[in-house]
Amino acid sequence: MLNAERIREDFPILKRKVYGKPLVYLDNAATTQKPRQVIQAMNDYYETYNSNVHRAVHRLSQEATEAYDEAHEKVASFIAAKGMEEVAFTKNTTESINVLAGSLSRQLQKNDEIVLTQMEHHSNIVPWQQAAKRAGAKLRFLEIDGNGELKLQQLRETIGKKTKIVAFTHVSNVLGTINPAREIIAAAKEIGALTVVDAAQSVPHMPVSVKELGCDFMAFSAHKMLGPTGVGVLYGKEELLEKIEPVIYGGDMISEVSFEDAKWNELPWKFEAGTPNMAGAVGLAAAVDYLQKVGMENVHQHEKILTRKAMERLKQIEDLTIYGPEAGKRGGLVAFNVNGVHTHDVSAILDAEGIAVRGGHHCTMPLARLLGIPGTTRASFYLYNTNEEIDKLADALEMVTAKMNKPAMTTTQGKAAK
Ligand SMILES: Cc1ncc(COP(=O)(O)O)c(C=O)c1O
Repeated sequence: MLNAERIREDFPILKRKVYGKPLVYLDNAATTQKPRQVIQAMNDYYETYNSNVHRAVHRLSQEATEAYDEAHEKVASFIAAKGMEEVAFTKNTTESINVLAGSLSRQLQKNDEIVLTQMEHHSNIVPWQQAAKRAGAKLRFLEIDGNGELKLQQLRETIGKKTKIVAFTHVSNVLGTINPAREIIAAAKEIGALTVVDAAQSVPHMPVSVKELGCDFMAFSAHKMLGPTGVGVLYGKEELLEKIEPVIYGGDMISEVSFEDAKWNELPWKFEAGTPNMAGAVGLAAAVDYLQKVGMENVHQHEKILTRKAMERLKQIEDLTIYGPEAGKRGGLVAFNVNGVHTHDVSAILDAEGIAVRGGHHCTMPLARLLGIPGTTRASFYLYNTNEEIDKLADALEMVTAKMNKPAMTTTQGKAAK
């Protein structure tokens, strides 16, 4: 078990007050707060060995290069990849998926199919839409049921002979659903399709092993796992990264250049053109160290406890609709609507209590449309959140519904996902 009270000591921002009230930060699915260890590691980089990497022989550059390369090794070991050659740094999850979609689209032919799910974030839809348009390929969507879970009985109808790529989110950033990644990947493999896992909401919150999953590619962001903004991870199996073409060209990603042509550098640098985010990589490495020390299974279990409690308390509130599956099947987030109150108003009322949540479509417009709602209010948890904070959220929501002073309506869990 982890000790959230002890962990909170490492996060300077959690001491601050908002409108004179202690900050209750429940917007972790958007971005997480940073522990002192991460901030310090980045400060140390700038104060003592800031220099460009892979370029100069001078001492500072050697130190920066060592730290930068080590960050790749740490991330590789964190997700059980073979080694740093399988881990390229990008800007964020979005850029990682764009790189993949841009590169893989060159292998697509007319009428090939790309399978996504109905619960994808825009960053795992729009790049594939563009890839499909370029190649004349088609998008297909694995449907969700009334509980916000994938209709697995349709898996082998949706993933068929024409499928070349299956790209799906490991954990939904709205429904919270933890998708059966192994089963989906196995179905894709049966017909030889490539698999891309959007792990933006899984790698930060639970043990994730690319070896166990057997996926071909994976994408996630440092800023959602205690690290800084501006660094993302693109994981790929070595033999596949060797095969596919880069889509961003320039310095460091080449081994040789003539006036006419160029040869690509070895992995992972082939996918890292230009001066990278060195301080960001150092920060990500410190974040990985921090999470490993706490233990990812502990993080996952802690979030499960918070989520179960949040679901139990929120289900008691009249006029409140929760979306997605039961607590045991979801990651550490709960999205809901207070019937008759706009999600931005709910968020504003909670904000006045010092509670930071996010309201809106959460970059999943097609899902919102499917659910027949403009958006949701989302509370998302992390290792530093406490049971008391869940109570504060529920108490404040009770206040919102009491203010509405309307006749009682029933709580309908997942009802909108027809
Ligand atoms: C499931 C999912 N995928 C992708 C992203 C995009 O992440 P980023 O904005 O860091 O690129 C997010 C961000 O919220 C997400 O929740």
